[in-house]
Amino acid sequence: MQKNNFFYNLNLSLNFLIKNKMWFNKIALKNYKNIWSLARSSKFLYKKMVCNIDFSKDLKLVEYGPGDWVFTDELIKQTTKDSKIYLFEIDPYFCDLLKEKYKNNSKITIYDKSAIIAKDLFDENSIDCVLSSLPLAFIDDNNVNQILSTSKNILKPEWNFVQYQYFLQNKNNIKNVFWNINYKFTPLNFPPAFVYVCQKKLWAKI
Ligand SMILES: C[S@@+](CC[C@H](N)C(=O)[O-])C[C@H]1O[C@@H](n2cnc3c(N)ncnc32)[C@H](O)[C@@H]1O
Repeated sequence: MQKNNFFYNLNLSLNFLIKNKMWFNKIALKNYKNIWSLARSSKFLYKKMVCNIDFSKDLKLVEYGPGDWVFTDELIKQTTKDSKIYLFEIDPYFCDLLKEKYKNNSKITIYDKSAIIAKDLFDENSIDCVLSSLPLAFIDDNNVNQILSTSKNILKPEWNFVQYQYFLQNKNNIKNVFWNINYKFTPLNFPPAFVYVCQKKLWAKI
C-alpha cells in the first residue's frame, strides 16, 4: 500500500487507536445501542460534573453508566476514605472490567443492572449526588422519567442530580422533575457537552 494512500493512513490511525488501548471506542462501536458514544468523556467534562460537590465530607455517590470508569477513578481519588460510590452499568463487558478493577476497593459497589433499579436499593433522602452519563435520548421516555424521579427521591435535599448530554434533547423531561437547573457547557470534550446540574429543593414534592 502506498504511504500517501488514504487507506494506508486510515489503517495506521486504527492501529494507533488499538495499540493505545482505546478499546472504549471498540466496545462503544460494538454495543452502540446502549453506549451511544464514540469517545470517553474528558477530564474537563468531569470537572464540570463535580463542580458543586464538597469532597471534604464522607459522601454517598451514585454513578449511572460509568463505562470505562473515566469519572469513577477521579471520584475515588477525590473522595474521603469512608465515602461510598455505587455504580450502575448494563454493558456486560464494562461490568466485567469494573468488577475486576475494583474488586479490592471498599468504596465501590457495582450493580450490573439498569439505573432504573436504584429505586429498590436506596432509602429516600440518602444519597449526596447522582452523576449520570446515561444516553437519555436513546432510552424509552417512561424509563427516563422513572430514572429521573427515582434520582430525585433518593437524593438528600439540596443535593444534585448531574447529567451530561450533547444536545439538551431531554431538557423537558429533566425540567419536569427538577425545576432548579443550572446549565454548564464545555467545548473541551468530544463531542462538546452540556451539563445539567439539578438541585433537589428542600421543599420540593418527591
Ligand atoms: C456515553 S457512555 C458513558 C461512559 C463514561 N461514563 C463516559 O462519560 O465516558 C454511557 C454508558 O451508560 C451505560 N448505560 C446505558 N444505559 C444504561 C442503563 N439503563 N443503566 C446503566 N447504565 C447504562 C452504557 O453501557 C455506557 O457505558
